[in-house]
Amino acid sequence: MNQIILITGAGKGIGKAIAVDFAKASVNNVSFKPLLILVSRTASDLESVAIECRSYGAETDVMQTDIADITQIDQLITTTLERYGTIDCLVNNAGVGRFKAIDEMTEDDFDYTMATNLKGTFFLTQKVFAVMEKKRSGHIFFITSIAAETAFKSSSLYSMSKFGQKGLVETIRLYAKTCNVRITNVMPGAVYTPMWGEVPDAIKNVMMMPEDISAPVVHAYLTSPRTSVEELVIRPVCGDINE
Ligand SMILES: NC(=O)c1ccc[n+]([C@@H]2O[C@H](COP(=O)([O-])OP(=O)(O)OC[C@H]3O[C@@H](n4cnc5c(N)ncnc54)[C@H](OP(=O)(O)O)[C@@H]3O)[C@@H](O)[C@H]2O)c1
Repeated sequence: MNQIILITGAGKGIGKAIAVDFAKASVNNVSFKPLLILVSRTASDLESVAIECRSYGAETDVMQTDIADITQIDQLITTTLERYGTIDCLVNNAGVGRFKAIDEMTEDDFDYTMATNLKGTFFLTQKVFAVMEKKRSGHIFFITSIAAETAFKSSSLYSMSKFGQKGLVETIRLYAKTCNVRITNVMPGAVYTPMWGEVPDAIKNVMMMPEDISAPVVHAYLTSPRTSVEELVIRPVCGDINE
């Protein structure tokens, strides 16, 4: 039977690497048959990730969705349940960041950041958790950040949103423990992805790559069902690189 795995922000960066690594994990594992539901706002990105995942034998479905819009979240969940009847794994990866000094942050920066990182993540989790609670199984990953515990000068709004996501992680864990649902908080340091825009080579050379995050995520999903990997903190060897 297929494992229904919904990944937000699957079109680029860390989310794309997670989708591809789930697909690769099915190659030599007859008991793991993922059906990957790939979600982001850009259909063309998702189509190309879907082609790559299918090349490893995984099934895919592409659902163009802006998680900042609750109506679109409702549509995503309704369509998923109509087509597949359940959700076994949610990877809350979609996230945005605008990085600048605190006195340059605008109301638009605030609303844009919180709409995806907090509102979208909250309501998607609420709806998917209800499905998992009812069937008493499932696994929810949150790709938060080391910025969920550590402040950086250029990251005021991003850090607020990530500290907030950590609050959701800790709360949902209280519910999840009573119904056999696994919760994993993934806290990466700097990973070279499109989120960073242009990066000088000297910095790029010390950053992690998306597959450095996706490999432990897939491993945590496939580990013994007796076990919950509660937290993954993954930093570049040199430590944190932004201030
Ligand atoms: N890169 C890092 O150094 C780093 C470190 C720690 C944590 N993280 C976290 O890891 C996650 C992924 O980051 P990344 O670096 O891979 O970013 P990225 O390269 O910018 O990719 C983000 C993905 O999320 C999607 N997305 C953004 N807003 C969305 C929305 N409202 N609805 C649906 N999809 C949305 C984007 O696609 P569209 O724009 O097409 O929708 C894209 O596919 C984020 O939560 C980020 O905060 C990143």
